[in-house]
Amino acid sequence: MSSNPATATLARMKQDIREVLIGRGAIADRIRALADQIAADLAGLGDNAEITIIPILTGSFIFVADLIRELPLKMQIRLISVSSYPGMSTTSKGARLSEQLNQLPTSLTGRHVLIVDDILDSGQTLRLVTDVIQRLEPASVRTCVLLRKQRPEIKHFPVNYVCFDIPDEFVVGFGLDYNDYYRNLPDIVALRSEVLETETVS
Ligand code: IMP
Ligand code: MG
Repeated sequence: MSSNPATATLARMKQDIREVLIGRGAIADRIRALADQIAADLAGLGDNAEITIIPILTGSFIFVADLIRELPLKMQIRLISVSSYPGMSTTSKGARLSEQLNQLPTSLTGRHVLIVDDILDSGQTLRLVTDVIQRLEPASVRTCVLLRKQRPEIKHFPVNYVCFDIPDEFVVGFGLDYNDYYRNLPDIVALRSEVLETETVS
């Protein structure tokens, strides 16, 4: 038994995991492959294309950090934040754009935008953000998600780039949270049902 407190905390967090769905190695490989595809598409816009990446916080912060370091393109980053799963909830309570964390410019005229989110679940978040961005009149808008849940409601939801399709279950890790915890798990995992039992909004 180790007496290192960090090891004990990690062991406690690991006890909450039911199953690792996608391991860190597979995530890294897939992000690299997707980045090649995105880079080729954006490079095709020409050398002088003005590119803006818009990560939706908080869930996309690890994904976007890895993704943009694989994109050898000149780009601006504008952060925005949307909340839809407040507190201990595993179903969307409706997407809302944060007023505190919003780095959107007043206009995106002439800029090619890539919106990046962690997961496409009901589609409310991406729909909201895409609508807001379209109103700023960019030259083009593309969307990219780390995960897409296999739900009938979003079967035809338009999204340009998807890293992984996953079953319709609640997952955490690699930036995704439950009640704001577990974001630092390096793999994408499902939690044990006992951990998810209390569905209350704090
Ligand atoms: P949507 O608006 O229902 O598509 O959900 C998008 C947002 O809900 C994501 O950006 C996540 O923050 C959150 N979300 C949806 N499904 C999950 C999940 O399985 N685990 C953690 N967060 C999730
Ligand atoms: Mg979340």
